[in-house]
Amino acid sequence: MEDNKTHFGFKQVNRDEKAGLVKEIFSNVAKKYDLMNDLMSAGVHRIWKDKMVKEIEFSNAEIRTIDLAGGTGDVAFRIVRKAREKNVKCQVDVVDINQEMLNVGAERAVDNNLFADLKFTCCDGEKLCFEDNSFDFFTIAFGIRNFTNIDAGLSEAYRVLKPGGKFICLEFSKVNDYFLQKIYDAYSFNVIPKIGEVILKDRSSYQYLVESIRKFPSQDNFKKMIETAGFEKVSYQNLTFGTAAIHVGYKKIN
Ligand SMILES: C[S@@+](CC[C@H](N)C(=O)[O-])C[C@H]1O[C@@H](n2cnc3c(N)ncnc32)[C@H](O)[C@@H]1O
Repeated sequence: MEDNKTHFGFKQVNRDEKAGLVKEIFSNVAKKYDLMNDLMSAGVHRIWKDKMVKEIEFSNAEIRTIDLAGGTGDVAFRIVRKAREKNVKCQVDVVDINQEMLNVGAERAVDNNLFADLKFTCCDGEKLCFEDNSFDFFTIAFGIRNFTNIDAGLSEAYRVLKPGGKFICLEFSKVNDYFLQKIYDAYSFNVIPKIGEVILKDRSSYQYLVESIRKFPSQDNFKKMIETAGFEKVSYQNLTFGTAAIHVGYKKIN
C-alpha cells in the first residue's frame, strides 16, 4: 500500500481522510449504537465488557482511569459501578473523537446517576489531550481498530499511563477454528449489514464494521505492537473462540 494510503474497511483511502470517515460512521449510528450492539451480538458484548473490567484492580483507595474511544460510556459505567461497590474513589475520563457518541453517553450517565464520577472529553486518541503519567488504568474497547495509526494510539496510551499503570484493550480478533470462521463470516457479512439496513437504514456503516474487523491484526501481531510501544508483561485472552480478545500490558516502572 502507498505510504499516504490506509484501509477503511476493504477500501483504500488517503490517510488524512480516514478519521473523518470514521467520525461520520459513528455520528450516523450514535443514537442507536447501544441497541445495535445488543442486536448484533445477542448481548454477548456485555459479558466481554464485564470481563474487561475485571482486569482493573480496585486495590487502592483512589484510582484514575481513562476509557478511550469510550463512545456512549458502556465500559466507563461498569468501572464506576464496580468502584462504588468496592468503595474506591474513581474518576473515569471518557474520551472519544466523536462528540455525538459522547453526548449519548453523558445523557445515559445522568439517567443512571453515574455522571458525578465521569468526565467526557472529545479528543483524538492518536494525540491525547492529557499530561504524561496521568492514569492508573487505560481501557479501550472496540476503538483502536478504527484508528488511522494504531502505533500512535499505543504510544499515547503508554505516555499518559503512570509507571506501573495497566493498559487493557478489548477488540474483535481472529477466530481460531476454520469451521467456526466460516460460520462467523457468513453471519457477519450477511446478517450484520442487514441489521444495520433494517434498524438504521444504514447498511454501509455496518459493512465497514465487519470489514474493519478483518483488517485488524491477529492476537499475536497486536501483542507485538503493544510490546513495541514499550509495554511489558503483555498477554492476551481469547473470548468466544477468538471472536474478540483482551490484551493487557503494563507501563515500565523504570
Ligand atoms: C465501536 S465504538 C466503541 C464504543 C465503546 N468503547 C463501546 O465499546 O461500546 C468505537 C468508538 O471509537 C471512537 N474512535 C474512533 N477513532 C478514534 C480516535 N482516533 N480517537 C478517539 N476515539 C476514536 C469512535 O468515535 C467510537 O465512539
